[in-house]
Amino acid sequence: MALREIVITGHPVLRKKAKKVEKITPLDLQLMDDMAETMYNAPGVGLAAPQVGVSKRIVVVDVGDGLFKLVNPKIIYSEGSEIDAEGCLSVPGLIGDVERYTKITVKATTPDGKTIKIDAENFFARCLQHELDHLDGVLYTDKASNMREPEPFDEEEEIDDEEEDETEESESESLIEKEENIP
Ligand code: NI
Repeated sequence: MALREIVITGHPVLRKKAKKVEKITPLDLQLMDDMAETMYNAPGVGLAAPQVGVSKRIVVVDVGDGLFKLVNPKIIYSEGSEIDAEGCLSVPGLIGDVERYTKITVKATTPDGKTIKIDAENFFARCLQHELDHLDGVLYTDKASNMREPEPFDEEEEIDDEEEDETEESESESLIEKEENIP
C-alpha cells in the first residue's frame, strides 16, 4: 500500500465525470488499498478516486463502522432531507452547510465483484452522497451555503496542554523518588 497525493480544488480531474469500471483489475484493487490508506492518513471519512487523480467510479468510506470499498456506486433510493456541515479533503480549511438526503440505498460492486446494496442514514448517508458527487465532478461547495473556516478547538488544546504538564510533573516526581531510593 502507498499514500497517494490528494488533489486540491482547481485541478481539472475533480470536475470530470469519472469513468465506469467495466472490469476490476489488480491495478484497481491497488488503487482502493491506496485510497483507504490515504483517507485514514489524512484523516478523513471518505475519498473518491478523482481526489487522487484517477477518473474512475470508485470510492472508499469509513465513518467508524468499517471500511467500504465501492465500485460504480449508485443511489437507488433516497428519502428525507437534512442540512448539516461538511468539508472535503480537496477543499482544505473550509466547511459549509449542505442539504442531503437523510436516508439512501446505494447499489455498488465490491472489490471481489459482488453486487451489494447499502442502506445508509444520517452521517453515513451524507458521506456517501458527498463521495458519489465527486464521481460526477461535483464538489460540495457547489451546493453549500455559509462557507466558513471551522471553529478552532481551543478548549481541547488547553486540556491537552494541562495533561502534558501533569505527565511532566509525575515524571519528574518519579525521578526524584528514584533518586531518593538510591542507596
Ligand atoms: Ni470531498
